[in-house]
Amino acid sequence: MSEPLWWRDGVIYQVYPRSFADANGDGIGDLQGIRYKLPYLAELGVDALWISPIYPSPMADFGYDVSDYRGIDPLFGDIETMDALLADAHALGLKVILDFVPNHSSDEHPWFRDSRRSRSSAYRDWYIWRDTAPDGGPPNNWLSNFGGSAWTFDAATGQYYLHLFLDKQPDLNWRHPVLREAMYDVMRFWLRRGVDGFRVDVLYHVMKDEAFRDNPPNPAYREGIDSEANRFLPVHTADLPETMGIVAAMRSVVDEFPERVLIGELYLPLERIVAYYGERLDGANLPFNFLLIGAPWNARFIADLAQRYEAALPVGGWPNWVLGNHDKPRIASRVGDAQARVAAVLLLTLRGTPTMYYGDEIGMHDVPIPFAEVRDPFERNEPGKGLGRDPQRTPMRWYPREGAGFTRGIPWLRMGDDVATRNVATQSDDPDSLLSLYKSLLRLRRQSEALSRGDFRLLAVDDSVMVYERRTASECYVVALNFGDQSVAPPVMLPGDLVLSTVSDPLTGTLKPAEARIHRL
Ligand code: GLC
Repeated sequence: MSEPLWWRDGVIYQVYPRSFADANGDGIGDLQGIRYKLPYLAELGVDALWISPIYPSPMADFGYDVSDYRGIDPLFGDIETMDALLADAHALGLKVILDFVPNHSSDEHPWFRDSRRSRSSAYRDWYIWRDTAPDGGPPNNWLSNFGGSAWTFDAATGQYYLHLFLDKQPDLNWRHPVLREAMYDVMRFWLRRGVDGFRVDVLYHVMKDEAFRDNPPNPAYREGIDSEANRFLPVHTADLPETMGIVAAMRSVVDEFPERVLIGELYLPLERIVAYYGERLDGANLPFNFLLIGAPWNARFIADLAQRYEAALPVGGWPNWVLGNHDKPRIASRVGDAQARVAAVLLLTLRGTPTMYYGDEIGMHDVPIPFAEVRDPFERNEPGKGLGRDPQRTPMRWYPREGAGFTRGIPWLRMGDDVATRNVATQSDDPDSLLSLYKSLLRLRRQSEALSRGDFRLLAVDDSVMVYERRTASECYVVALNFGDQSVAPPVMLPGDLVLSTVSDPLTGTLKPAEARIHRL
């Protein structure tokens, strides 16, 4: 076995900073709140936290619209608190990953303010400006991921600027060498401060077609159901071949510092995700694998998915798995409470670095948000399609009381009506809770080289059960997951000793409904 490596052997936990812990009582989570909760994360048993953007921002897209890449938004704290958070985390053995948002800045970033001032601004070409099309409309048919055209006309200089997200998120021009160097220096700024790596926002979007050709229509588009952006296939706005050069350059910046990690956000098909490891493994260390997020929850599909992913990985590429994030419905809402326990076992026993989403360890559900309380611009732009992301961003629950120990003020999003049972304190006292299951799984995984680093082999699958092993030369675990709601005999005999089950009184030779178990050989 090779040397230990934290991002390969460990578990990543995503903190959505607005919703984790509010130390100053303004109803919005902050860095000081995260600092207070670091011991919780250490005790839970994760190895790293990834914090969604904390930089100065007008918050049009809740921090994914950055107006200063080198600062901290006063809502979240200041740079001293960030430094203290890094020091505290490191003292507890936790790594800290920041979000890096290279595709676009805020329209309030000084670069963009200057860029839009005049066509001769030194910053003009740091963004993407084009003339009106001959028909008098926008330069081409590209659409914003949040609905509407991706082009906004700016009367001051008589041109359109590109924004693949909100008009308040102008796209940066990654074909401009000086912009590129400025962004690499931003990465170095944080790496020098001790940040352990980056999750790179919409990495697959950074390059766009140089000829600005129209995207072709998407024949599968469902009017009124799909988000408007899906009207066209993003052939000329996503996953361009030139992107790989940028990824490799980001990777070499990260590699200027020891033991850092580069993670890419990639909503792409399997064969394209794995391309982002780079031809010589010089791309992302972990191109995020979101395949479980949209997957139908059944044994055959998941077994096939795990095998296809394993087979597609480049030699030396380390896998990873994600069950949820701040953009997608929560796992407990997607599969229900019983299967959320199966999902925990799956995530923490598949081969590859798991990324957990805050609150999933206590089984938080999506919280329905009445229209008047909607905060997410995606829901406001395309209402009623179920695309809004507020439901999965509601505050973490720490205690069964008003404000849930998240805030002493008024939370920025409503808490949901199940705080009394789904909170950390209550579940900590219950050995059968989901939180206790997560802790047991994280402990077992940490103690076992086979579970963290061993080979994966599918042993059997039928209509409801998937069985696989994780093995090193000296250790072997067998994992069986019942995706169904009936008691069943597993498709193969489960050898060895039972070390963990998701049900309290497991039987021999039968898996109970929604039972997942781990045997040691
Ligand atoms: C990513 C983020 C999402 C954000 C978008 C634009 O997909 O995860 O929250 O809205 O990029 O930055």
